[in-house]
Amino acid sequence: MNRKEFVRNTALTTAAFAMPGKGLFALGAADNKVRMAIIGTGLRGQNHLELLLRRADVDLVAICDVSDVMLATAKEIITKSGRKMPQVYTGDNYAWKRLVEMEKLDGVIIATPWEWHKSMIIGSLDAGIKYVGSEVIIGITLQDHWDVVKAAEKYGANVMMLENVCYRRDVMAVLNMVRQGLFGEMVHLQGGYQHDLREVKFNDGVHPYGGGVEFGENGFSEARWRTAHSVHRNGDLYPTHGIGPIANYININHGNRFISLCSFSSKSRGLHNHIVKKGGEAHPNAKVSFKLGDVVTTSIDCANGETILLQHDTNLPRPYSLGFRVQGTEGLWMDVNKSIYIQEKSAKPHQWDGAKEWLDKYDHPLWARWSKDTEGAGHGGMDFFVIHSFIESIKRKTPTPMDVYDAAAWSAITPLSEQSIELGHETIEFPDFTGGQWMHRKPVFALNDEY
Ligand SMILES: NC(=O)c1ccc[n+]([C@@H]2O[C@H](COP(=O)([O-])OP(=O)(O)OC[C@H]3O[C@@H](n4cnc5c(N)ncnc54)[C@H](O)[C@@H]3O)[C@@H](O)[C@H]2O)c1
Repeated sequence: MNRKEFVRNTALTTAAFAMPGKGLFALGAADNKVRMAIIGTGLRGQNHLELLLRRADVDLVAICDVSDVMLATAKEIITKSGRKMPQVYTGDNYAWKRLVEMEKLDGVIIATPWEWHKSMIIGSLDAGIKYVGSEVIIGITLQDHWDVVKAAEKYGANVMMLENVCYRRDVMAVLNMVRQGLFGEMVHLQGGYQHDLREVKFNDGVHPYGGGVEFGENGFSEARWRTAHSVHRNGDLYPTHGIGPIANYININHGNRFISLCSFSSKSRGLHNHIVKKGGEAHPNAKVSFKLGDVVTTSIDCANGETILLQHDTNLPRPYSLGFRVQGTEGLWMDVNKSIYIQEKSAKPHQWDGAKEWLDKYDHPLWARWSKDTEGAGHGGMDFFVIHSFIESIKRKTPTPMDVYDAAAWSAITPLSEQSIELGHETIEFPDFTGGQWMHRKPVFALNDEY
């Protein structure tokens, strides 16, 4: 199948999928269990593991990791679940290749460090797997993103980035409100990743959060690999939790697209200060120079005239917030102050309504239907939906609701923001991974209560 045909077919199938009473329901669910594997059973992989083990429609046939510690925890989880122990692949950094080649999988989940995602996605596609779910960020360089898109097109396969925030309950209620026109026409959106990660980037090498200022080979979990990105790179290193929901609000790649981007970075102080405060001036890591600015701010403009402001803020003391602002010609939602204002509908002019009443009233049909099944799932239940939609797409043999073009556009913000900063805040043109098809593709994300 050539590239044009693949894009066209994706658009056609997703259009059928969007038709109420047709497509999705007509296809029905297969009775056969879905053969799944997980590559990377670290902290995030263990969340996915628990969710897969809860599902009767999934047969977890293999897991892979290079860490004995992480594998031991994963095996404990499996034993506790009472499910059959899957085949375990380990021993070297390329054990995953043997897994994808030998296991005849319907789908694979990748939850490894960012720098592995591109080769693991493409290796899985090369091995004939038609559904690849990758944790957030699908590559490091812009070329990585093109390579993943081209590989998915070559094989007519699905690559879904497992962007769970798209399924957060308030985010989805606001999507419902946007689609029902409550905010009018969309004008400006904000979001980001504003999360004090100092105790994730540094720990004692045994526990995942804090207790020391080690990283790299002496660190554990994300401190082992994520911190190096803060040493060597300066850009929005984690854009997808903010941009995923925003992209759905304004139909990016489905009638709209990102046109260009410009990024600014503040000075870098937070990580060094943290090391000195917790480990002392004499600690060897106090000599490390961090390239990542503490607050990186990115502006994006879109084909349909909206502007987006994204922030990456992971090195300073602050409570967690993704900082959403969804603003249209009739009103806006802001998540930090949990408020909504809609002209002529809010209680008083120029005064915020508490968001809760609005969000309850416009609860998304997916949450209304499945909220009981989300109990115990990670991140307030939203993790249930991202796995649910991946597995249901496999069962129905339909395209995933977030596809390779979404993954590439959201994740490519990282290399583009690095480039903009490197070039003195130059405005960088955004590539169109869909090759012009964004104009014809219809929205498909969360159109009903199925998945
Ligand atoms: N969506 C979310 O809410 C969310 C939350 C946390 C992490 N994440 C993402 O999940 C991914 C993993 O993060 P994490 O927190 O689990 O990190 P982690 O360090 O806890 O886990 C990564 C695992 O990958 C393993 N690994 C490394 N190289 C490997 C290789 N060549 N083959 C097999 N296994 C290998 C490591 O041993 C480790 O167990 C990242 O992309 C991260 O950004 C997403």
